[in-house]
Amino acid sequence: MRIVSGIQPTGNLHLGNYLGAIRNWVKMQDDATATGGECLYFLADLHAISMPHVPAELASNTREMVAALVACGVDPDRSILFNQAQVPQHTELQWLLNGTARMGWLNRMTQWKDKAGKNREGASVALFTYPVLQAADVLLYQATHVPVGEDQKQHLELARDIAQKFNNDFAPKDGNGEEAPVFTLPDPIIPPEAARIMSLRDGTAKMSKSDPSDMARINLTDDADTIMKKIKKAKTDPEPLPSDKAGLAGRPEAANLVGIYAVMTGGTVESVLAEFGEEGFGKFKPALGELLVSKLAPINDRFVELRRDRATLDAFLRQGAEKARALAVPTLNAAYDALGL
Ligand code: ADP
Ligand code: NA
Repeated sequence: MRIVSGIQPTGNLHLGNYLGAIRNWVKMQDDATATGGECLYFLADLHAISMPHVPAELASNTREMVAALVACGVDPDRSILFNQAQVPQHTELQWLLNGTARMGWLNRMTQWKDKAGKNREGASVALFTYPVLQAADVLLYQATHVPVGEDQKQHLELARDIAQKFNNDFAPKDGNGEEAPVFTLPDPIIPPEAARIMSLRDGTAKMSKSDPSDMARINLTDDADTIMKKIKKAKTDPEPLPSDKAGLAGRPEAANLVGIYAVMTGGTVESVLAEFGEEGFGKFKPALGELLVSKLAPINDRFVELRRDRATLDAFLRQGAEKARALAVPTLNAAYDALGL
């Protein structure tokens, strides 16, 4: 089992990013390595340039994301952690696959239609060919499994179509006339249903770095006092917690806090309500605050230390890129050969 997954480098990471995305990576890594598999995790910095971006922010967001991933438990010795830009084989393979991908296939991508909107003429060419780079990202490593959320299913299908057409059109025949496929067709793995964490100021809005109120989110950089204060001030209603899940209907702020407690303890909404049902927030909030502090403190310590340590972050990325290149080169060479290049 070889899992390949990418993440956009973003800064200002918060509890939503941790519970909704990063924690799944740690779990996949632990599961894969326990059964002799491996994970390749990359920062999708090449993808970032398909949309308007600020170069200095891209560089610092890439490092910040690496710091967060490692602080949260992605182990650069067990997983291959790297950024695309340091592995030129991604863009080389993309060009080779551009010969196989069809305009019509890319034109049908709903993400292209959504992101380009009405201004197709003004969209970057990179935005259009982005799914071919995504295909290269996974085919380059003979990935067997790729975690995909709902919005990425279509792109993985495209990667499989490209791989199949390439194998079909160009795979060399061995002595017995059997095809030796150049690329493995990766299977999707549906990530465990990710927690969706809502704003602490408005239970109907997603917790997000773009929320102008810092009180609306728990940042991975927040210290214990800040976490306690934010939970204490979190918006709620005056009712005590209900004793069952149905009682949370129409109470988005209460449901969010209970949900956070449940995922942080590995429990369920029901188990949290069995413990705290009929209690007021005066009792529940301090318990939630202390839980968050105890679970996030080790992450926070490591994160704050690492994000200052540029040399270590760069060393992680260099080491990951070296390992990734070593895996990529044989596949890239096979693709060149198959094409007569
Ligand atoms: P933001 O909304 O802060 O801009 P991003 O869009 O950069 O966050 O998201 C990065 C990753 O974190 C994505 O995989 C996204 O699904 C996840 N994520 C972001 N916010 C939340 C949230 N509030 N709850 C769960 N997952 C989230
Ligand atoms: Na966002």
